[in-house]
Amino acid sequence: MSAIHPLYPLHDPMPKAGADAPIGIFDSGIGGLSIAQEIARYLPKERIVYYADTAHVPYGPREDQNIRELTAHAIEWLYRQGCKIAVVACNTASAFSLDYLREHYGENFPIIGLVPALKPAVLQSKSKKVAVLATPATFRGQLIKDVMTRFAEPAQVEVLTITCLDLVPFVEAGAQMSEACLVTLKEVLQPAVDQNVDYLVLGCTHYPFLKDAIQHIFGQKMTLIDSGTAVARQTARILIKNELLFEHDGQPEHVRIECYVSGQNADHLKPILSHLIAPDLTWSIKNIGI
Ligand code: DGL
Repeated sequence: MSAIHPLYPLHDPMPKAGADAPIGIFDSGIGGLSIAQEIARYLPKERIVYYADTAHVPYGPREDQNIRELTAHAIEWLYRQGCKIAVVACNTASAFSLDYLREHYGENFPIIGLVPALKPAVLQSKSKKVAVLATPATFRGQLIKDVMTRFAEPAQVEVLTITCLDLVPFVEAGAQMSEACLVTLKEVLQPAVDQNVDYLVLGCTHYPFLKDAIQHIFGQKMTLIDSGTAVARQTARILIKNELLFEHDGQPEHVRIECYVSGQNADHLKPILSHLIAPDLTWSIKNIGI
């Protein structure tokens, strides 16, 4: 692995953030809002700062080292905003970056990552055939390989790995129910249905936003499973362990999810986010140049 040269080497560490600091969440684009919403629901008092690297989305087709550097850059931004913890709400970024980030920031800035939810799918599958839909980069990473060796192999569950680079751009464009997206999903997932797969793991944080489209095409033929709830629980556990959970009586007065985008496309994304984010969660969006 080549070294990463962070923009701000830790010569200048931030003061340790307190419980009233926000939770930082990062994804290459707006897909990680599927995770941000789970966290917002599970931890209703917390403030969330969400960073979408829309200048560089999608990460899926990128080289490993490039994904590592973009991720390091994004997490550093969240750290400099004074966040108390960072959630890498991106399977692709997590696949290459967690070791580096944990080593770099140490205990003062806990890092939570994601891996496709293959374990629960394996444990629940009756047909003993599950599929994981993720980016090619996610399958190159060690995290998913470890889960396959630890859980799928001993349970003798066959795992179909499915990649498609066209799906993330549909979500970024708010075009999940477009004819082109439905045709792509049908083409990509029909082989899994034909092979009697009963659990489909949505191994990219953009894909929970495709659930309606997938069910529109395939009905209940496959149970769809993602990492959202598990990550929200894990975030709560780590906050409690580090005495960083925000305890406050009454309703929060702040915006629940503050979104920042590197791609200067905040205005364009506003109507898209108003469909992706549940109406009871307040949010804002701003361009940032980094
Ligand atoms: N949302 C990201 C993930 O979970 C990937 C999207 C991308 O290709 O940028 O893998």
